[in-house]
Amino acid sequence: MTIRKVGIVGAGLMGSGIAQTCAQSGYQTIVREINQPLLEKGLNRIHDAWQMMAGKGKLTNEQVEENRARLQGTLDLADFAECDLVIEAVIENMEEKLRLFPALDQALKPDALILSNTSSLSVTQMGAVTKRPNKVCGLHFFNPAPVMRLVEIVRTLSTSEETIEQIQQFALSLGKTPVLAKDTAGFIVNFLLIPYLLSAIRMLENGLATRDDIDTAMKLGCGYPMGPFTLLDYVGLDTTLWAAEAIYEEYKDPLYAPPPLLRRMVVSGMLGKKSGRGFYEY
Ligand code: 3HC
Repeated sequence: MTIRKVGIVGAGLMGSGIAQTCAQSGYQTIVREINQPLLEKGLNRIHDAWQMMAGKGKLTNEQVEENRARLQGTLDLADFAECDLVIEAVIENMEEKLRLFPALDQALKPDALILSNTSSLSVTQMGAVTKRPNKVCGLHFFNPAPVMRLVEIVRTLSTSEETIEQIQQFALSLGKTPVLAKDTAGFIVNFLLIPYLLSAIRMLENGLATRDDIDTAMKLGCGYPMGPFTLLDYVGLDTTLWAAEAIYEEYKDPLYAPPPLLRRMVVSGMLGKKSGRGFYEY
């Protein structure tokens, strides 16, 4: 099957970044949100990114117009009927995903592939509530999705070899480097990244060093592009908490137990850059 039209469910930070990546890689792209204000917010984020790229000379005005013409928004999953592939990027909540996957299964043509951008929930469970578990796998992008070069392809016990090969080709066509992971909580990156981020929070809680010194230490000592607190704010504290909880739930390893400060900040609405306040103020 040739992939021409791609659907993205969710136009949040990740969904809009994935939609931007697909549209600028030449795919007809349709993105679904649950209401008009959220849809417009997501589409505006993408249009702004293309304007920014044009301002830097990375896109011509003509290319911006071509990209815009390939991108469409909708509030209705029925508009995904012609999609060859759909990527789910909704909230990291299994109940939501288990409601969405059967609805996608119904709305899509029988040979369409259904992918999840989940960072740590079980893709096997999502595939199991469809009639096409062999055509379901994970495709996990990293924030900012148009810039970060990695994608994790997550193979469930039911994903067919043909699906994996198609997604590998699709990932390459987006300019990404795919790695293959089993469907275990955290896959590769978050299994390693989450304990690092949580350890930084524990260091702060225990007064071992200041926020700024921990960030500076990891940037200059290890050459990381951002220190852990800047990265936590960038990824979102709610997203980090959900990922930590999902991995902890699977392994019960204290390494993944969310520190109290992280929970307190999330319930206080301090979610990082997107809410204007996290470990830093924006
Ligand atoms: N579209 C296109 N280009 C974009 C863009 C977008 N939406 N957003 C940023 N860019 C481009 C900028 O134009 C810039 O291009 P240039 O170098 O040619 O001028 C380039 O990306 C870098 O952006 P900035 O100049 O604004 O800023 P920095 O040089 O500081 O880089 C960064 C920003 C790429 C975010 C870098 O700091 C970085 O790599 N940080 C680490 C990010 C990271 O670790 N992400 C993974 C998080 S884990 C995750 O997502 C998993 C989840 O499940 C939790």
